[in-house]
Amino acid sequence: MAATRSVMRAVRVFEFGGPEVLKLQSDVLVPVPKENQVLIKVHACGVNPVETYIRSGTYARKPALPYTPGSDVAGVVESVGEHVTAFKKGDRVFTLETLSGGYAEYAVAAANRVFPLPDKLDFRQGAAIGVPYFTAYRALFQKGCAKAGESVLVHGASGGVGLAACQIARACGLKVLGTAGTEEGMNVILRNGAHQAFNHRDPSYTERIKACTGPGGVDIIIEMLSNVNLDADLQLLSRSGRVMVVGCRGRIEINPRDTMSKESSIIGVALFLATEEERSECATAVLDGIEAGWLKPVVGLEYPLEKVAKAHEDIICSSGARGKMVLLL
Ligand SMILES: NC(=O)c1ccc[n+]([C@@H]2O[C@H](COP(=O)([O-])OP(=O)(O)OC[C@H]3O[C@@H](n4cnc5c(N)ncnc54)[C@H](OP(=O)(O)O)[C@@H]3O)[C@@H](O)[C@H]2O)c1
Repeated sequence: MAATRSVMRAVRVFEFGGPEVLKLQSDVLVPVPKENQVLIKVHACGVNPVETYIRSGTYARKPALPYTPGSDVAGVVESVGEHVTAFKKGDRVFTLETLSGGYAEYAVAAANRVFPLPDKLDFRQGAAIGVPYFTAYRALFQKGCAKAGESVLVHGASGGVGLAACQIARACGLKVLGTAGTEEGMNVILRNGAHQAFNHRDPSYTERIKACTGPGGVDIIIEMLSNVNLDADLQLLSRSGRVMVVGCRGRIEINPRDTMSKESSIIGVALFLATEEERSECATAVLDGIEAGWLKPVVGLEYPLEKVAKAHEDIICSSGARGKMVLLL
């Protein structure tokens, strides 16, 4: 007779649509790890804006329905597949890619996408590492070719990716400018690596940035809202400067001539296109930063799993980020 499988609470999406399609269910089967997989008892799961785009059905990549959203999980290993030697039951871990979905009490992940979570970081912080820090590292170094001594404007620095970018860039010797939409957000940026903070709701903030960088301009812009800022970004760049398009929610008109006058570049960033080697490089940099002590994820709004729909509303209609949004289980 087949053994009875355990059940868990998990968020399920049966149709694409608004936040109301996120259904919390209490009878979802706990996944069983295959030979190279790890089953994690989830303590916290980061909420990434892309999960709202995917849920709405308007994103280029659509999962098969029904599915459980969520990729940035932190928790404790519950069990491992027969070929997994790197982890054992009870280990504290984080991942940036689950196979079964992170908005759930348990999630499986491929063992090579799971990393140890040191005791100095709590589970909420563990859930704020994966996508934000890997993306920030990729934008700065793998795509932006940042070098110590250069300047970077983190345009939208108060959220998950932005604060990661501030911490990494500062630790690697760049001059860091960041923007936020509130006073509180600006203070968080300044505590996390930025030399200068600007308010992107202040009508004259780009003039202030120009005054700060001088006629030379800024070498790299890590852009979280390209559809609003790309045209202005091109005016802020230095000669051979580059705008890294990390976030974009629509179209914008630019004058391509603005790139000619400084031989500047607009470069797209997509974490999901990173090769195995590039992912491993990101992981090394992140784990090293945790060990060295400068990588300290900042957790912003926290929600219980029951409030997942509210979390999805709030991350899109944010009144001012102050770190990474997480779901607690
Ligand atoms: N390309 C990739 O591989 C990749 C990977 C991860 C994330 N992303 C994208 O990157 C973006 C940021 O992700 P996240 O996780 O950091 O989101 P988040 O935590 O929600 O943060 C959003 C950030 O955007 C800022 N913002 C709001 N209005 C802005 C404006 N007019 N100009 C500049 N910034 C503005 C917010 O500042 P205030 O709230 O202080 O106003 C906040 O700092 C999202 O669009 C996400 O989908 C892309």
